[in-house]
Amino acid sequence: MPAKVVLGAQWGDEGKAKIVDFLAAQAEVVVRFQGGANAGHTVIVAGETHIFHALPVGVLNDNTTCVIANGVVLDPESLFAELDELASRGRTVQPGELWVSSCAHVVMPYHRALDRASEAHLGSGAIGTTARGIGPAYRDKVDRSHAFRVMDLLDPDLPIALRAAVASKNQILTAIYGAEPLDAEEIIRGALAHAERLRPFVTDTSVYLNKALDEGKTLLFEGAQGTLLDIDHGTYPFVTSSNTTAGGACTGSGVGPTRINEIIGVTKAYMTRVGNGPFPTELHDDEGERIRELGHEYGATTGRARRCGWFDATIARMSSRVNGLTGLAVTRLDILDTVEHLKLCTAYKYGDQVLEEFPADPRVLAKCEPIYEEIDGWCAPTTEARSVAELPPKAMAYVRRIAELSRTPVAYISVGPDRDETITV
Ligand code: IMO
Ligand code: MG
Repeated sequence: MPAKVVLGAQWGDEGKAKIVDFLAAQAEVVVRFQGGANAGHTVIVAGETHIFHALPVGVLNDNTTCVIANGVVLDPESLFAELDELASRGRTVQPGELWVSSCAHVVMPYHRALDRASEAHLGSGAIGTTARGIGPAYRDKVDRSHAFRVMDLLDPDLPIALRAAVASKNQILTAIYGAEPLDAEEIIRGALAHAERLRPFVTDTSVYLNKALDEGKTLLFEGAQGTLLDIDHGTYPFVTSSNTTAGGACTGSGVGPTRINEIIGVTKAYMTRVGNGPFPTELHDDEGERIRELGHEYGATTGRARRCGWFDATIARMSSRVNGLTGLAVTRLDILDTVEHLKLCTAYKYGDQVLEEFPADPRVLAKCEPIYEEIDGWCAPTTEARSVAELPPKAMAYVRRIAELSRTPVAYISVGPDRDETITV
């Protein structure tokens, strides 16, 4: 597997980190290519829980080099907090073990303030963001007037440019949102301190990654968020501000599409969503509450309760299409171990039509009703299974049906949070 992409096939929180961590044992390099500290990637190794927002999860492996590539919006505060936390657990990450792209854009304190202010301003129309400043940082990247890349953080003229940016953002914060202005000098001091700490980690990561491939090294691309949160293909406007889909791995890293061999879409055996926006198979009843409690479905970044619902194959097919998935990783199968009756959404009913394809128009989606197929639960534990043969036959029948409806083969099945609780199909 010289280059493998692992990305979310739903609305994020699919268990990408667990699959990346499992595969990282065979990879020399793990790359984050989009998003930022909005990600909440949880890995449990030998009973110890690690939650990453900024760092690639490969950082847990001593032999893996981690890369934060150009497509990421990097929040230095979040990055250094995570590095310090890791160091306190005995894992000190040295320059050379982590590379940060000089082209990655930087999340500034005013991006977080603008994110919060904009959400408050939108009121009931709010997106339900993670308040990590992601949208405002990507907006500045596209806008081009007051954006800072990592290389600008290292530039001696940083204070001048940053002072002008803060003045401009303070106008927006105060005049449009009625929020408090931020202290430019404090932001400059923070940025200069971050720049010095960041300097030894900075390189041209596209050069590094392509050279690694030339040397025969294996690369693992760690997606953040999920396909339905993609800025182009997701449930716009209730999406994040980056390309979470497979193409994002290329634009966000400077590795060309011809060098990618496999694209794994991670999907829960049911569905969750955190934040606002449409969710056709959402359960508003006791069943949804039961899945939330069984799966402890609360956000790793914000602690918010996740909305829960049945597996939606319409979405899985869409995800397979836009990503060109070569395989699925079905996670959290064990959460359904005690559920007697399961449902799979096979398509949508829209008026008197049956829609096999996920509709791009939210007005159409709002009027769609899921068409369900009912399946008996297996009502047996799956957590001990380490091969397909050890899974209860009904559990495997459920997974096979997911593959069939998704038109994508299943490559991995996760039956518990720990690294070992994984089946290669
Ligand atoms: P991981 O990588 C789930 C959601 C937010 C909101 C929308 C926009 O852990 O799967 P943003 O802060 O990105 O502007 O918020 O996207 N969202 C996520 N949902 N998992 C994530 O990351 C998410 N990152 C953002 O809840 O609906
Ligand atoms: Mg998460």
